[in-house]
Amino acid sequence: MKYSHFFFFCLGAALVVALLIYPSFTTDEGLAADPFPPQPMPGRIILSWSDDPATTQSVTWRTDVSIKEAFAEIAPASPSPDFRDDAKKVKAATELLVTDNNAAHFHSATFTGLQPETMYAYRVGSGEYWSEWFQFTTASREEKPFTFLYFGDAQNEIKSMWSRCIRQAYSTMPDVDFLLHAGDLINRANRDEEWGEWFYAGGWIYGMKPNIATPGNHEYARNLLGQRTLSDLWRPTFTLPLNGPEGLEETVFYIDYQGTRLISLNTPAIYADKATIQAQEAWLDSILQNNPNRWVIVTHHHPVYSTAKGRDNEEVREAFQPLYEKYGVDLVLQGHDHSYGRGYNLNFGSSRKKDKGPIYVVSVSGPKMYNLNFEDWMERAASNTQLYQIIKVDGDCLVYEAYTTTGELYDAFELRKRKNGTNKFIDNAPEEVPEIISIPERLRVKMSEKEIEEYRQRFEEYKARNKGRKELKVEGLE
Ligand SMILES: [Fe+2]
Repeated sequence: MKYSHFFFFCLGAALVVALLIYPSFTTDEGLAADPFPPQPMPGRIILSWSDDPATTQSVTWRTDVSIKEAFAEIAPASPSPDFRDDAKKVKAATELLVTDNNAAHFHSATFTGLQPETMYAYRVGSGEYWSEWFQFTTASREEKPFTFLYFGDAQNEIKSMWSRCIRQAYSTMPDVDFLLHAGDLINRANRDEEWGEWFYAGGWIYGMKPNIATPGNHEYARNLLGQRTLSDLWRPTFTLPLNGPEGLEETVFYIDYQGTRLISLNTPAIYADKATIQAQEAWLDSILQNNPNRWVIVTHHHPVYSTAKGRDNEEVREAFQPLYEKYGVDLVLQGHDHSYGRGYNLNFGSSRKKDKGPIYVVSVSGPKMYNLNFEDWMERAASNTQLYQIIKVDGDCLVYEAYTTTGELYDAFELRKRKNGTNKFIDNAPEEVPEIISIPERLRVKMSEKEIEEYRQRFEEYKARNKGRKELKVEGLE
């Protein structure tokens, strides 16, 4: 082959190879780059509990793989910068995780032997690379008032559109004791970029306020064998309790916090493997039977009663609802249906003649929205609205408030615990705030005339169930 031919042959071959490789390195936005690369400096710093919130605190963070050994330092916080002189060092557990975008080290440490009701300062890192000092406060050993934030699905456009929700929530109530995420934190379980967005949105809030998270169906992905499995990032990202059934570690667990038992159940596991139903039922039965706390709040992703059309989770209802009623669970915080519904136990109806069943809430904090279906159980609804909730427990009183992402109170109720363990329900939904139930234009254009008529009918029934709604109108349906 002549030299010039050889040159053109090589050029051609290089072009073919480049054309073959190019698509796998590009996205719609152009050349792919890892938007949230791990660095030697700690990132994705998040507090969660794996043990008693009065005396322990776990922290998890991420670095690049050059950091082979990492530490967490802690000292009682004081206004003087000299608190650092008293810092104790804890060696972190380190694990390698290779994702679609990078290889990283995830580190976790648990501070133990802490004093209850005490503010501590901590930082994480190693060598030259340390985080800032964060502050957190341990729980009381006693039953004492506390407040937390609850978020339904964040899931989509997390950086762009969910960030405003968590930041408004924190701004409304910066004194909260912890955050609760009811699943579908992200959209594609194993996309590191989406987890990066979730951490971008919440930023340093996660480093100051402990997080309780339950997995949603979007934290599950199919493996090469076609089985649905938990996101590879879930367990490296959080350090949650290991007190659940075997095989459901860090997804089914309970935490006792100042007189309330907080329980996470794993509903996507039920759809991945039906065998997990029985294990969760038996476990739930045992921890509700042996519960010294006054209140019980449960979170799981798929709702017992749905808010959206064509969606129902019979398996979840059959597995858990009888136990909620048997043991008088107070509140069930859920997601999945991308709309808002708050209501009572369908079996007992709104007559409230029996009040053993919990209050059910379905909520959404991110921008993805589904149409409402005005199901029978619902007493307050919203469509097309990003929301967050502030929940306060104080002695025999539980106060629930749902806020829109623009910071307006949208729904509220109180539960007053009677001596016999049942609750008196007080509806405090702000009368002056009309329910947001019109069909958003972008969903309406996809609906047939028949579907619009069905929506109208269901709305009329919903209105008829509650006289207070007489004046309600759905725009465009009159
Ligand atoms: Fe979901």
